[in-house]
Amino acid sequence: MENPKNLILVIFGASGDLTARKLIPALFSLRTQNLLPEKFAIFGIGRTKISTEEFRVKMNSAIVSYSEEKVTGNDSIADFTKDLHYLSMDTAMLGDYQKLKELLKEYDENNGIGGNYIFYLATPPSLYEVIAINLSESGLCDQNEGFRRIIIEKPFGYDFESARNLNKTLHDLASEDQIFRIDHYLGKETVQNLLVTRFANGMFEPLWNRNYIDRIEITSAENIGVEQRGGYYDSSGALRDMIQNHLLQMVGLTAMEPPSSLDPDAIRNEVLKVFQSLQPIREEDVPLQVVRGQYTGSLIRGECVTGYRYEKGVAVDSRTETFVAIKFYINNWRWGGVPFYIRTGKRLPTRVTEIVIHFKPTPHHLFLRQSGKLSANQLIIRIQPDEGILLKFDMKQPGAGFNVKNVNMDFHYSDLADIRVPSAYERLLYDVMLGDSTLFSRDDEVETAWKFLDPIQKAWAKNPSIKVYGYPAGTWGPEHSNDLIEGEGLTWRYPCKNLADDELYCEL
Ligand code: BG6
Repeated sequence: MENPKNLILVIFGASGDLTARKLIPALFSLRTQNLLPEKFAIFGIGRTKISTEEFRVKMNSAIVSYSEEKVTGNDSIADFTKDLHYLSMDTAMLGDYQKLKELLKEYDENNGIGGNYIFYLATPPSLYEVIAINLSESGLCDQNEGFRRIIIEKPFGYDFESARNLNKTLHDLASEDQIFRIDHYLGKETVQNLLVTRFANGMFEPLWNRNYIDRIEITSAENIGVEQRGGYYDSSGALRDMIQNHLLQMVGLTAMEPPSSLDPDAIRNEVLKVFQSLQPIREEDVPLQVVRGQYTGSLIRGECVTGYRYEKGVAVDSRTETFVAIKFYINNWRWGGVPFYIRTGKRLPTRVTEIVIHFKPTPHHLFLRQSGKLSANQLIIRIQPDEGILLKFDMKQPGAGFNVKNVNMDFHYSDLADIRVPSAYERLLYDVMLGDSTLFSRDDEVETAWKFLDPIQKAWAKNPSIKVYGYPAGTWGPEHSNDLIEGEGLTWRYPCKNLADDELYCEL
């Protein structure tokens, strides 16, 4: 594997959760694999007034708590944290960027970095513009000496208009190839494997279209609630937090045409075409195509779970959705008439992300299953956990007659025992260092995704009679989400049963 050029990584929002839980452990992991540049430093920027020494101690604990690497001794962590520095500054003050510039210059000259800087904006989204403008005004985005790249966390805007404005601001300061919009799902190994499954195997692609596929279902379920992020989440909701980015990117990779090459733009062009072909959902059709829900308090395995409205930072009369299910179509030759169903939610029974390809049944039914029901083949691409691929198909049960049983053929990533699956942030940080933008959302992709979701947001805002269904924490969301599925008796696939099924619910 290639080693990136020497560089300094500047993290805005260094005292935040993302830095401690994801970024620093991912960078440490890259170090243990010798994938960081030979000369490398991290400058953490935050409002909190702490010293570099205190920052190093904090990050040391973060690595111990959150690293996926087996940390065997403190030596390797200490060796890594000595490259960490901290600067407390007010990101709104242009003058403070001069201080930062001088500090970086001094470090750069003393250590022979060569002028390459990456700025990671891991701050609340309200600060993205001001930080980018100040970086540019202070000359920190100029690429005279080395490369300058900006990484922006999600959410990228809150609707089409705001995303377009943010893109405009960024384009005034830097070129598109300097901007890396993170969608950490694209960093997941199994999401990338979608491309390989589809385009490296001759047997799937001929079947991957409206002639053989009945419907496609994508679920991203979480069993956790909003945790400490109630304040952010209440102004966001599942549509902005998960659908606009992670779920739509998975739709893009599942539905795209084969790219002509692995060039970043060749792949992103195909994803964009899928987004452009999404059949717009009219505001008046939102109640028919979208179901939203909010978890209520319940008892799971004897433990009381707080309802969403009683979470810290959430308004007691909040109508923010913690669950969304959407039915839509992709208007193109490959997918015309095939319904796509996507859903995501917090406080569902389990943590699972999977893509289910439901094939059409055979044209003539020779065999009935014992249950009396006919079944059709399913290909289940399990993104997480227990990453793998499962093919469900029918086989004859041994013995008299032609009794048919649905069986599984499955592959688990864990079977590749000697292969370590890197974390999403590890992969994405490494790619930014190399300047590879394949796994980052492009300006037009983000805007087009928002354009598709805007009518839903508008309908919800305008029409309070559109229901927010309550669902007890630990269940699969509102029952109404099954009404979206076309076809008699069809439901979503439930990877495990409702946890609270046989428990007593208690409204908190
Ligand atoms: C983040 C969302 O982007 O993704 C969170 O903001 C969510 O609300 C998280 O919990 C889920 O990521 P993962 O990798 O745990 O599926």
